Amino acid sequence: MAKIAPSLLSADFWQLSRQMEALEGAADYLHLDVMDGCFVPNISFGPLLISSLRLHSKLFFDVHLMVQNPDPFLESFRLAGADSLTVHAEACPHLHRTVQKIKALGAAAGVAVCPATPLSVLEEILPELDMVLIMSVNPGFGGQKFIPSALEKAVKLRQMINERGLAAAIEIDGGITMENAALAAKSGVDILVSGAALFGTRDLAAAVREMKALASSAT
Ligand code: DX5
Ligand code: ZN
Repeated sequence: MAKIAPSLLSADFWQLSRQMEALEGAADYLHLDVMDGCFVPNISFGPLLISSLRLHSKLFFDVHLMVQNPDPFLESFRLAGADSLTVHAEACPHLHRTVQKIKALGAAAGVAVCPATPLSVLEEILPELDMVLIMSVNPGFGGQKFIPSALEKAVKLRQMINERGLAAAIEIDGGITMENAALAAKSGVDILVSGAALFGTRDLAAAVREMKALASSAT
């Protein structure tokens, strides 16, 4: 069954505790977008916010690090409560070392690829990964338009993973809505990140459930 990972980036921070409570029973993961103003042209939040949410939430914390050279920060995000740490292939000069560091910290290890990055960068590292994140927008902002070629990438990646008998889950991130959720799941995606399309609704928990049902019916 497909998993839904609402992206906190689109939350109304004035209403954060109410929105977190709504997600608690409905969502599978909480997607936390960390932006450094260097790898991506935006700055979001860091370990402080994550550790304060961790005190109150049982959700799986799926931390997406849009950070250039993230190695020095991995431990603080793990200590803050990250269950998985996903780094960008484009931001890590020694990706294998970074992935080993994440695993040594006891977190699930993910690698993200931007829309223009080919899947071939994952060929050697794929057996080491718990998750691959396919970006379906250029990272940096919520509420952008879905880039359809991400679906072909997901199909190809699903084939690579299955042919090699590997276990990595596929996550898709950016522009996921009620309209394309089923298509993403059909393309082999296991985890759907969604921000604007969920937080823009009146009933957040109902929207998460609806997206989960749409995605699950497609597989
Ligand atoms: C973009 C972030 C996404 C974003 C998704 O850089 O990585 O997680 O918040 O939000 P929507 O669904 O609004 O594109
Ligand atoms: Zn993200």
